[in-house]
Amino acid sequence: MGKVTVIGAGNVGATCANVIAMRGIASELVLIDIKEGFSEGKILDMYQASALYNGGTKTLGVTNDYSKTADSDVVVITSGMPRKPGMSREELIGVNAGIVKSVMQSALKYSPNAIFLIVANPMDPMTYLALKSSGLPKNRVIGMGGALDSSRFKCYLAKALDGFIGDVDGMVIGGHGDTTMIPLVSKASYKGVPVSQFLSKEVLDKVAADTMVGGATLTGLLGTSAWYAPGAASASVVEAILCDQKRVIPSCVYLEGEYGQKDICIGVPTVIGKNGAEKVVEIELTAEEKEKFEASAAAVRKTSAILHDLKVL
Ligand code: NAI
Ligand code: 2OP
Repeated sequence: MGKVTVIGAGNVGATCANVIAMRGIASELVLIDIKEGFSEGKILDMYQASALYNGGTKTLGVTNDYSKTADSDVVVITSGMPRKPGMSREELIGVNAGIVKSVMQSALKYSPNAIFLIVANPMDPMTYLALKSSGLPKNRVIGMGGALDSSRFKCYLAKALDGFIGDVDGMVIGGHGDTTMIPLVSKASYKGVPVSQFLSKEVLDKVAADTMVGGATLTGLLGTSAWYAPGAASASVVEAILCDQKRVIPSCVYLEGEYGQKDICIGVPTVIGKNGAEKVVEIELTAEEKEKFEASAAAVRKTSAILHDLKVL
């Protein structure tokens, strides 16, 4: 148990906060936004809901008052603009870089020991920005993308298998972008059995393609980006930290030679526990997956370089 601050009380931030409260994984939860009364309203609604499930988390909603976030163990940054239909995550960098950098500085002032979970898009460059601008050790800045993309991968696999989603395992690594993420089809399994024993190559190719545009599909349907799975995925990483679960979650972390990459934040299987990103797990990739990972890293680097043009780094 510990204290969590969620910055941004919009769709993803509020959903993340609600999942954390419902699962009872934090002793204290603060939701903060710049929009007057927004966090207060969301928290009041959540508190009323908690009466129905006997929730015990101490919750607080505040408008821009970082003193109330003091001594958080985990800070989740969801503040930023979401994409609209037809827009890529990368196009959000100009607006969101300034927001991420400034909220990170404000939160860090009051919670110098917190672990930061970056959700705002484009998430890989935002994680790099948060790490480099704060000077924090690499284990304390984690980007959330792989947890969500893997849950989307499992969703499309379960649909293709017409099976129970809890019996499906699968992982997505690489950048959190429509063209940069890599669903690891070779490692996906159903009850421990490789999915290739149940599904044809054509079906698996379609599952991978649907996974990659999973966010765009929802943005097209909803008119803004999704929130239930993104909020739950963010909460699952918070839970892994607060409960020291040592779960292997594909997460965006800083690489120093792992997977042949240096000075980049990108999604790789990572042990998540009380110290944040505790260890990168290096798994054997096929030649095709290696090639895709290199291309993904090149694309993430290209977007991250814009941070210098924007003069936020
Ligand atoms: P939203 O528009 O519903 O919420 C964003 C909130 O941030 C708003 O309430 C806004 O007032 C607040 N905000 C803006 N500037 C702020 C500041 N300086 N301080 C505090 N609060 C501030 O957007 P939504 O749907 O919640 O998405 C949030 C971000 O998360 C977007 O950038 C979106 O692209 C990203 N996202 C990332 C995912 C991932 O897997 N990494 C998945 C889904 C969304
Ligand atoms: C999503 O994947 C847009 O990152 C957001 O839903």
